[in-house]
Amino acid sequence: MSTTTLKDIAGQLMRDNKGLLAMDESTHTCNKRFEEVGIPQTEEYRRKYRDLIVNTPGLGRYISGAILFDETIKQSADDGTPFVNILQRNGIIPGIKVDEGAIPMVGFPGEKITEGLDGLGDRLKNYYNRGARFAKWRAVITIGAEIPSATCIKANAYTLARYAMFCQEAGLVPIVEPEVIMDGGHSLEKCAEVTTEVLHAVFNALYQHRVDLEGMILKPNMVLPGEGSAEKPSANQVAEATIKCFLRTVPATVPGIAFLSGGQPAELASERLNQMHVQFDNVMPWGLTFSYSRAVQQPALEIWKGKDENILEAQQALLHRVACNGAAKLGKYNH
Ligand code: 13P
Repeated sequence: MSTTTLKDIAGQLMRDNKGLLAMDESTHTCNKRFEEVGIPQTEEYRRKYRDLIVNTPGLGRYISGAILFDETIKQSADDGTPFVNILQRNGIIPGIKVDEGAIPMVGFPGEKITEGLDGLGDRLKNYYNRGARFAKWRAVITIGAEIPSATCIKANAYTLARYAMFCQEAGLVPIVEPEVIMDGGHSLEKCAEVTTEVLHAVFNALYQHRVDLEGMILKPNMVLPGEGSAEKPSANQVAEATIKCFLRTVPATVPGIAFLSGGQPAELASERLNQMHVQFDNVMPWGLTFSYSRAVQQPALEIWKGKDENILEAQQALLHRVACNGAAKLGKYNH
C-alpha cells in the first residue's frame, strides 16, 4: 500500500470543519452506558442505537470518519442497508477499533496493557474488505502514587507501534491512542508531565518500528487535572498546557491530532478544542480535531432511552454536539 494512499486518507479524515465519531464502544462498555439510562442490554438494542447514529441527517457535514466496533461493522439498518454503506453514502469513511481491550498488566499493580496483536494482520485484511480504511487502538495509562512505571509506558508504546505497522501494511491509517486517563486526584501539571513522557515514548517506538508518520493520526487526551482534583483550570490554561506538550513531543510530519473526550462534560470538550484553535492556530503544524464518543453521544443516548418515539430528538442532540465541535475546529464555537 503506497504512502500516498494512507496520507490521502489521513488528509480526508482531517479535512475542513470535520472530526471523527467514536461509535466503537465494546459490547461491555455499550451495555454499561445502556444500563445507566435503563436501555435493555441486547444486540438488537445496540444495533438500533447505531442505526440512530448513522442515519442522523446531516452527520456527514461535521463527521469525516466513524470508528466502528466488530459487532457494528457487520450490522445493518432496519431496511437491510449495511451501516458501512450508509456511512460511505454520506461521505463518512468507516474505521474500526481493533484492540481487544486493556487488561491488568501482570506484575504491575494498577497498570494496564492492551491486547489484540495476535491474528491482527488477518483481521485487518478482513476489515479492509468490509470497507474500513482506518483503525484504532487504545492504550491506557493511569496516574497514581508510584505509577505510571517506565515499563508500562514502554510496553504500551511498543504495542501501539506494532499495531500501527500492521495497519499501514494492510492499507489502513492507524489511529494511535495513548490515553492518560482522568481517574485520580493529580494536578494538571502532573498530567502534562506524564503525557509528555508517554508521547515521547510512543513516537520513539513508532520511529523504531518504521511507521510512516505521514500516514497516521494521533488520538491523545487533553492535558487536564484528575477528576478528583480541586483544580478548575480555564479553557485557556488547558489549551496552553496541551498545545505546549504536543509542540514538544509530536513531530510536525504527523498530519492530524484528534482528541478523545475521556469523560469531560460535552460543552467543556468543545470549548477547550475551540480555545486551542483560537490561541494556537498559527503555530500548530498538524491538524487538530475531535474524535469524541461520550462528549457527542451521551446527551443523545439520554434522550433516546431505547424508545422509537425519541429517535428524532436524540438525532438532533447528536447533530448539535457534532456541529458544536465542527465549529470548535474552526475556532468559531460559542456555547
Ligand atoms: P471518549 O471520547 O468517550 O473518551 O471515547 C473516545 C474513545 O474512542 C475511547 O477509546
